[in-house]
Amino acid sequence: MASTSNEEKKPWDSSNLRKYCLNFGEVPRFHFDDPRVDECIRSNKPVIILGTNLVKPAVEKWNLGYMEQNMGAALNTVYFSKSHKFKYFDENKMLGRSNPKGVQFTPPIRKEDMLIGDFIRTMRDWKQGEERLYMQQSLTSAVGTNIVQDFVNFNWKWISSKQKLHKWGKLTSNLLYVSQEGNVTPCHYDEQENFFAQVLGYKRCILFPPDQFQCMYPHPVHHPHDRQSMVDMDKPDHVRFPKFKEAKGVEAVIGPGEVLYIPIYWWHHVESLMRMGPTITVNFWYKAGPTVIQYPLKDHQKVSIMRNIEKMVLEVLRDPNEVGPLLRNVVLGRFED
Ligand code: FUM
Ligand code: FE
Repeated sequence: MASTSNEEKKPWDSSNLRKYCLNFGEVPRFHFDDPRVDECIRSNKPVIILGTNLVKPAVEKWNLGYMEQNMGAALNTVYFSKSHKFKYFDENKMLGRSNPKGVQFTPPIRKEDMLIGDFIRTMRDWKQGEERLYMQQSLTSAVGTNIVQDFVNFNWKWISSKQKLHKWGKLTSNLLYVSQEGNVTPCHYDEQENFFAQVLGYKRCILFPPDQFQCMYPHPVHHPHDRQSMVDMDKPDHVRFPKFKEAKGVEAVIGPGEVLYIPIYWWHHVESLMRMGPTITVNFWYKAGPTVIQYPLKDHQKVSIMRNIEKMVLEVLRDPNEVGPLLRNVVLGRFED
């Protein structure tokens, strides 16, 4: 990893990482008081931030046993998958809901609301060949008092100073991720700024900038997999997605106490390292700040424009199957010099 003076010995090596057909650059790692942290954030570039103490109480205490004792009696959202991949889908975009003429869709993962004890027991007793599990639960006041206290003791001073400095909007949610080793969240982008704080175990994040849109082949906006890449990184279909080979990404492996800044609209693929035990992460999602229109527009602003065009065309045509043909007709053969 780049840019640290006191490089610690890594507890993982390349055998803990999944193999892909692309090579990746490295996300820089800087101490929280290094001015280059803010330079990265200002220019919408990912950075690993060291020494923030953002989730220190969690790093010191949270493990499966502590979560079992302290999450409380509320139900938690757990996803199950027959493979190591947990590709998110939007239930509201499934057939019969907002999208009566939409594509047929079979969810690749299933969702279950579970008591923390049942989740942890199933995870501990898990055997190869069984469905994998991944808990992804919003941290709300329904959690037990010890976890509430840990949350209150997060380093809000540091994170709020970043929010203010970079003129972000409000904190919208904190999602708690508890994962088995080897689980993967496939490549997608989010429409919010994200501080991704690692609590337990190690995660690898592969990131691609928003200007790689044409290499990543996102599902259409009306599709339940909106914001997700159609490319399966395990076995990319180079005939259907020829530009994926040209995608230029960077990677970061983060461990307990390290915070990764995932800029708004950056593609990210996340994997819990293989054979390194379970992982716990808390992320902090912030709304983007007020839009500043300055030319040339930023790459992520252009993605937002493309999304809006797609949405508008669907709204007037009322049939998702007509959106592609219409947009193709707009450009075909017309804009070549
Ligand atoms: O699996 C994950 O930790 C995913 C995080 C994200 O998409 O932000
Ligand atoms: Fe995400």
